Formats: sequence, C-alpha cells, structure tokens
Amino acid sequence: MVNEESFKKLVSHAKEYGYVFPSSEIYDGLSAVYDYGQYGVELKNNIKKYWWDSMVLVHENIVGLDSAIFMHPEVWKASGHVTQFNDPLIDNKDSKKRYRADSLIEDYLQKIVGKIDKEITKAAKRFGDDFDEETFRKTNPRVQANLKKREEINSRFIKALEDEDLPGIRQLIIDCDIADPVSGSRNWTEVRKFNLMFETKLGSVSEEANTIYLRPETAQGIFVNYLNVQKSGRMRIPFGIAQVGKAFRNEIVARQFLFRMREFEQMEMQFFVKPGDEIKWFEYWKEERMKWHLAMGINPDFYRFHEHDKLAHYANAAFDIEFKFPIGFKEIEGIHSRTDFDLSQHQKFSGKKLQYFDPLSKESYTPYVVETSIGLDRTFLAVLSNAYTEEKVPDANGNLEERIVLRIPAPLAPIKAAILPLVRKDGLDEKARRIIDNIKFDFNCQYDEKDSIGRRYRRQDAIGTPFCITVDHQTMEDDTVTIRYRDSMKQNRVPTANLNNIIIKETNIRSLLEKGVEGV
Ligand code: GAP
Repeated sequence: MVNEESFKKLVSHAKEYGYVFPSSEIYDGLSAVYDYGQYGVELKNNIKKYWWDSMVLVHENIVGLDSAIFMHPEVWKASGHVTQFNDPLIDNKDSKKRYRADSLIEDYLQKIVGKIDKEITKAAKRFGDDFDEETFRKTNPRVQANLKKREEINSRFIKALEDEDLPGIRQLIIDCDIADPVSGSRNWTEVRKFNLMFETKLGSVSEEANTIYLRPETAQGIFVNYLNVQKSGRMRIPFGIAQVGKAFRNEIVARQFLFRMREFEQMEMQFFVKPGDEIKWFEYWKEERMKWHLAMGINPDFYRFHEHDKLAHYANAAFDIEFKFPIGFKEIEGIHSRTDFDLSQHQKFSGKKLQYFDPLSKESYTPYVVETSIGLDRTFLAVLSNAYTEEKVPDANGNLEERIVLRIPAPLAPIKAAILPLVRKDGLDEKARRIIDNIKFDFNCQYDEKDSIGRRYRRQDAIGTPFCITVDHQTMEDDTVTIRYRDSMKQNRVPTANLNNIIIKETNIRSLLEKGVEGV
C-alpha cells in the first residue's frame, strides 16, 4: 500500500531537519538527485560503517577495495551493460508521461495480489480461529480466478522479457487495460529500449576523445581487480572483496525520492568460490544479509525475500530482500549467484588470464561469484521511514502534545547526545561545556542552551538524538546529571563520570554487529 501522505511528511521532515535536500535547490532542483545535509551525512556514514565492519571486520576472508568510477569502456562491453542494460519504456501520448513498461505490468500484478490478500483478510476475520488459509486459497472461486489470472499474465510477461519481445510487452499492457496512473489515458506509444548508462568523454581534445561511462554498478571494479587483490593479499578461495561507492543510472522513472536516484551509492561484496559451491554460499549469504537488516531492530514484518522470476543474463540464482517502504514493498538488496560470467567475459575481452590457482588441489579454475548488493540510499530511506513517528505525549503540565521523533537505532543516530544546561547562569553552561569537552572525542555531541528545556528535547527528538543530558543545579553539588532517553522519555540521574560508559554501551556499532552474527 502506498502511503503518499506519510511519504510527503517524511520528505519534508528530512529537508527541514537537515537530512536530505534536493540537489541544486536554488535552481529548482535536479530530478532524482539529492544532497545529504548535516545529519543525513552522519546517518549515511554510520550505515556505511555498519555494513563495512560487518563485512571486512567480522570476516577475516573479506577485504575492501576502492576502485575508480571511470573504467575502460571495454569493461562495459564485456559485462553486457552496453547491449543489455536497458529498460523497456513506453510513453503516454495524452499525458506525455514516460514509464517503464515492465513496472506498469508489475504494479498491475501487485494489484491482483492485493485483491487476493484482501479476500483472505476478510475471510480470516469472518471465520476467526477456524480459518484455514490454505484451504481457502484452494477453494474460494474469487481467489482461484485471481490466482489464475496472475499466473497467466505473469508467464506471458516473463516470456516477453526473456524474448525481448517489445511489441509483446505493449500488447500485455493493452490486454490488461492498464491506464496511465496519472491521467487515466490508455493511449500508449510503442515500447522502446533505453540504455541506463551515462556517457561522457575522456580527454580534452574532442577528436581524440573516447566515450566512457559513469559506472552503473560498483561490482565491475571488483571483478577487474580480483587477481590483484588475491595475489597481493595471498587470499585463498573462498574469499570476498567489499566496496562502497557511487553508481549512476539514467533512470526513467525517477519520482520516488531516495528510492530511485540517478546518482546513488551501492555497498557491494563479491564472494569468490569454487565452481559447484556457489549455491551453498548463495544460501549462506541470503541468510546472513537478512540477519544484518534485522539486527537494526526494525520490525521483521517489514522485510521479505522475493525470488526473481526472470534471472539477469549473468545469474543462476537470485533473491531480493524487499523492505516495506512508504511506497510499498520494494527491493532494498539483491543477492545474486553470478556464476563465472563476469570473470569469463573479462578474460575474453581483455585477453588476460583471470584464473585462480588452488595451491591445495594444484588445479586452476575461474571462480564463481556470489554477490550481495545493497543500496546505501535505500537503506537510509528504510531506516529513516521506519524511524519517523508522530505521537501524543504529556507536556510539563500533563496536557497531551504532539511530538515528532526519529527512532533511529542509537548506533546509527547522527548525534548521540545533546548536552543541555537547564539555565544559562550559575555556572551550569560552563559545566555543560566541560562535559562536552570530555566526551566529544568519543561521540558526536551537540550543545544547546536556547529555549525552554522542553523545546530543546523536542528539537533533539526530531533529529533522532538518543540521549539528552541535562546539567542542573544539583550537578554543581554532586557532579551528577540527568540522562533522558529519546524513546521512553524516561530520565535517570547518573554520575557525570559514568556518561562515557553509558553512551558507549548503547551506541556502539559493535552491538549491531554482535546481533547480526548471533542472529536476532
Ligand atoms: N551489481 C548488481 C546490481 O547492481 P541491482 O539490483 O541493479 O544490482 C543493487 O542494484 C542495489 O542497488 C539495489 O538493490 C538497490 O538497493 C540499489 N539501487 C539500484 N538502482 C538504484 C537507484 N536508481 N537508486 C537508488 N538505489 C538503487
């Protein structure tokens, strides 16, 4: 279910509180490009660190890499991106809006699933404890008809995609009577292909200039460096290479905030394995990656696996992890078994051997690769949308007032603690400064002395600060402060000397990493 209203609120909160700004806003923005503000960049860095540490710190057989965005143009011929990295697009002749034809059909299929789910929810309510979903699915005529319809459309859809049958995709849109979601018009153009890579020129003299591409994924930088890393690091298979970096895609549908951007960041890990072992490792990484997401403490019902109906040209198994964004369940991460496709292609195109020599078995082979590929910006959006909460809470006089709070997991929060002198006199402000001077080397802190203490708490709630530390007159007598917890709003009095330990315990990324390893 798309929740437009709450999505709009989230976007405006993100801007008002320094998380995300439209790019070049004073020039009316640039479509599907965003800048991260002072809090956004901190949250993004913390997510990056959580991911990086979960790969490189926790696994002794995974190392990092930072490859360049520009790569030799042959890379993208070898990888298949020049010929295959296309979206089928269709225009509506009346509204002049452009859509991904495959997304229109996928949304239609999702609507059918929605109808089936509605029937099941209604029946579950009617029958109460006696409800047996499996039998209901098999016997209810309306559910059966919708299941059959979905199956028929889906198999036509997959066949058309596999055959790259663009007129067939258009016919499906006509047969399903799919209308332009904006105007309701059914006046469609032909379906055309559109390559998603951005081109630019290398060199300053135009005649000599070569066309190169902004990378559409970070993975290829890992593939072309795999032997460099393996040899220089004396890595033994199985091993992984992790990388975080920018990727660029000229997306057609670009109206979904951070979900679909033209410039975004990926966190990718390629795990090199012996041919034949790939499915075992694929299953392993599928589970590991889900644990990583769940360790952040987000409601598990907001995550689900989705198996690909149509495999990409390079894959022999592929699952997405989907997250329930305000715009519905959508892909946040892909786990792909990419076979030896990429390495074999690079061997072919470069003429260089990319084989691994196994010192134990004394055999050489081209490794297979299992990839985990997650969008940093989509993870940011998931954390932010899950954190955004509007609630009614009692004010100082016991009356209910609205508060907006970002319940960001404490280890990911941009500011860990705000230090607030109750009043700006009697030495309280100087004492607060001294506390900051002590803890600022360990955490991101903020000093705030303006307005009433209640308003200052609200400001910190709105940016998601997990702890507010108040310095009052008692502090001057016994060197204790109150610590207020963002989510429960409870307050404890603690010795100033204990602050570091308390905050470390609650905000260390280590706590997430340990949960991820143990499982949640
Ligand atoms: N190397 C494999 C690969 O790039 P992908 O499914 O195309 O696979 C991986 O992308 C992840 O990158 C996605 O799950 C998503 O989180 C993120 N991503 C892809 N396109 C994006 C876009 N236009 N804006 C934001 N994130 C995107």
